[in-house]
Amino acid sequence: MSIGGAGKAPSQRSDTASGARGEARHEQEPASVLKNARFFRANQSRAEQWSSLETYRQIRRAIDGHIAGAERLLDVGNGGVFHYDTSLAQQIVGVDLFVGRPPAGPDAHISLRQGDALALPEPDASYDVVLVSSVFHHLVGGDADATMANIRQAVSEAYRVLEPGGRFVVMESCVSARFFALERRLFGSLRRLARTPLMRHPATLQFPAEVIADIIATRFGDTVTTPIPVGHWILQFGRRWPTLLTPARPYLFTAHKA
Ligand SMILES: C[S@@+](CC[C@H](N)C(=O)[O-])C[C@H]1O[C@@H](n2cnc3c(N)ncnc32)[C@H](O)[C@@H]1O
Repeated sequence: MSIGGAGKAPSQRSDTASGARGEARHEQEPASVLKNARFFRANQSRAEQWSSLETYRQIRRAIDGHIAGAERLLDVGNGGVFHYDTSLAQQIVGVDLFVGRPPAGPDAHISLRQGDALALPEPDASYDVVLVSSVFHHLVGGDADATMANIRQAVSEAYRVLEPGGRFVVMESCVSARFFALERRLFGSLRRLARTPLMRHPATLQFPAEVIADIIATRFGDTVTTPIPVGHWILQFGRRWPTLLTPARPYLFTAHKA
């Protein structure tokens, strides 16, 4: 995989693989792949600064409680950002569309590499914890159904690389069903806008928490959904907004591989 250069985009690879097996189609739009990589590569240090906001302290607390004691933790869509205590896991592998910056200080137990959430470059059953934080709403396809198919594929990939008994931990920004209906209607326009220089942030589509929980439960079975308390500020489109003015709320989803 390469970003903005020669080689196949990850979306092309996953599409071919699924097509060959006649399974549901999953494809992150090439424009989404490029824009995510460019935007988040340039914003790693800014995102670290935001971890001092109360909402992100609460997110950190919620994630910490579920990754504690991990021997091998895979952080999918890490983007060089660690909204959790990295000392809680013996080994951490971060995968993103680009190779992120490791945290400051001596962290020999952390390695970062390029990879796609839809086709993880990791062997089967190789992790006891997989974390996917703030990534699902970025797996944008041609419409809402295609985006959902991408999320299903990312969940299947997490399942594949987890060992039996392994923990799946998802932190995701979700919206109400009513807001989702509106967002779904505006999604085409948002995608077109995101392809222009007028919008620096990639297009996203946030789902209701029940939809995310259903997708995870279809693969993993029992799934626990927990709303995360918020502070006065929350990030949307790479900027901080007063929480009361935004429809997005963070949720933690946890499940185990049987
Ligand atoms: C909002 S950031 C989240 C970063 C970090 N996980 C956090 O919790 O702050 C979304 C990340 O998902 C990454 N991403 C988007 N599509 C991806 C894909 N198909 N595979 C891997 N990472 C992807 C982006 O590059 C970006 O780093």
